[in-house]
Amino acid sequence: MNESSAAGRKNGLIIAIDGPSGAGKSTITKLLAERLGYIHIDTGAMFRAIALSASRNGVEADDDRGLEELCRSTDVVLKRSNGCCMVLLNGEDVSHAIRTPEISALTSKISARKPVRESLLKLQRRMGEQGGVILEGRDIGTVVFPDAEVKFFLSATAEERGRRRYLELAAREQVTLEQTIAAVISRDENDEKREHAPLRCANDAVIIDSTRLSIEEVLESMEKKVRERVSEQQTCFTDGREICGK
Ligand code: DC
Repeated sequence: MNESSAAGRKNGLIIAIDGPSGAGKSTITKLLAERLGYIHIDTGAMFRAIALSASRNGVEADDDRGLEELCRSTDVVLKRSNGCCMVLLNGEDVSHAIRTPEISALTSKISARKPVRESLLKLQRRMGEQGGVILEGRDIGTVVFPDAEVKFFLSATAEERGRRRYLELAAREQVTLEQTIAAVISRDENDEKREHAPLRCANDAVIIDSTRLSIEEVLESMEKKVRERVSEQQTCFTDGREICGK
C-alpha cells in the first residue's frame, strides 16, 4: 500500500477490483460500494459504450484512426440513479443495449486497441483520483491505479463463470450454457493475451476465488480487508456524489 498517495486523496481510498468476466465483480463491487458509501465505477461499461458507438457508426474493431476519432467525439457518462449505475452514451441511456452477447464480443476486441485504452485511461483516472471509489475492470490495479490502496483479484473457474453469465443472459437471449462458457473462455483469452493493458493480477492484490463462495462470504472478506486498511489510514468515508464522464 502506498500511504502517501492515500493521504493525498480527498474522499477516501481507491479500491481496485480486477478479474475475468463472470467472476462476480459487478455484483460484488456494487454491494461493497453501498456498504462503504463509496462510488462504484464500472470501467467495463465504459468500454462497452465505446463498442456500441463503434458498431452504430460502422467503425471497424481494427481501425485505430476511426476509433481514436470516435473516442474524441463520444461522450460516455456513468450516472447513479436509484442506486443503479446508468450508462449514458451521448446522453442516451444505453445501460441495457451494451450487455448483448454481440456487444460483449465486440468490446473484447475494441478494448484491446491502444487509442481506446488511452482515451478511457485518462477518463478513469479523472473519475477516481479523489478517492472514495471502487473501480472494477481488468487493469485497474496494474495500469489505471497501480497505487490503489486496496486491490482485489476476483476469479472463479471458467465453468462457474460461464454458468453465472448464462443465468443472467438466458432470460433475455437465445443462448446455451455451452455457448456461454465458450464465449467466456474466448474473452478471457483476448483479455489476457492482448498487448495493451492485459488482464493480470497485480503483485500486491488479494486473490479471491469465488467458485465455492457465496456473495455474502466474498463481501465479508473484502469489507474486512478494506476496513483494516481504512483504520490504518484513518481515512473518512463519504456519500452521495455523482460520477461524471467526459
Ligand atoms: O467487465 P465487462 O465484462 O463488462 O468488460 C467488458 C470487456 O471490456 C471485457 O472484454 C474486457 C474489457 N475491459 C477491459 O479491457 N478493461 C477494463 N478495465 C474493463 C473491461
